Amino acid sequence: MNSLISDDTNKHSNEFVIEVKNLYKTYKLGTETITALNGVSLGIVPGEMVAITGPSGSGKSTLMHIIGGLDRPTSGDVLVLGKNISRLNQRQLAQYRNTTIGFVFQSFYLQPTLSAIDNVKLPLVFTKKNVDRTAVAKDVLGKLGLLDRLKNKPSELSGGQRQRVAIARAIVNNPKVILADEPTGNLDSKTGKGVIELLRNLNKTEGVTIIIVTHDMSVAELCDRTIKMRDGQIIND
Ligand SMILES: Nc1ncnc2c1ncn2[C@@H]1O[C@H](COP(=O)(O)OP(=O)(O)OP(=O)(O)O)[C@@H](O)[C@H]1O
Ligand SMILES: [Mg+2]
Repeated sequence: MNSLISDDTNKHSNEFVIEVKNLYKTYKLGTETITALNGVSLGIVPGEMVAITGPSGSGKSTLMHIIGGLDRPTSGDVLVLGKNISRLNQRQLAQYRNTTIGFVFQSFYLQPTLSAIDNVKLPLVFTKKNVDRTAVAKDVLGKLGLLDRLKNKPSELSGGQRQRVAIARAIVNNPKVILADEPTGNLDSKTGKGVIELLRNLNKTEGVTIIIVTHDMSVAELCDRTIKMRDGQIIND
């Protein structure tokens, strides 16, 4: 059932897990047009861990949101495992976001009223109907060293613990791709390093493809490749 995208894994011929082709995104604010992405193309191979850097406003988050199916481009294509995600209908797109992609954000975006374990169980509601969701969520939280914090609400956790819960939620459906938008932006450098090492470990052991937006050069150095953006374009890859 985890197969909306992976069904086609064997059918597409290119070597990329993510292929972005000539992507444009413009926003209209009154009479002003803002070009957030100005012709971005890139390919990412399976198992790569890629950093995206660039000044504020250069289009990094916009690119991540479009790759993750949270936003639509003005023009251009995003192929994930050979499938053009702009051709997916609403239901398929929701399934894509829930099963193929794991998102990690700077501000965690956990449900404040739910405990750690209930936050991690949320993505399982639609995908794992006949399994013990508590056991699955507990297993993932255990791997991230949070077995003693299962019942804590986000407000009862440290920043680093919150981000680990957010990572547990992002990986609980075994996504092929993790998109992390400044995942260490709200953490001190030591805690941030722990979060990145955790992602690196997932990348190495499970072969998950990871894209991390970061301002931190020490984070970028831990990645296989760094893509630099400016003014909605890639200026260095
Ligand atoms: N919903 C929106 N409406 C209008 N303009 C937007 C919208 N979202 C983003 N923009 C603009 O698009 C450009 C790119 O924004 P984006 O959030 O992708 O930058 P970023 O590289 O992630 O920056 P930061 O490092 O500050 O997070 C910016 O000029 C921003 O103001
Ligand atoms: Mg951003």
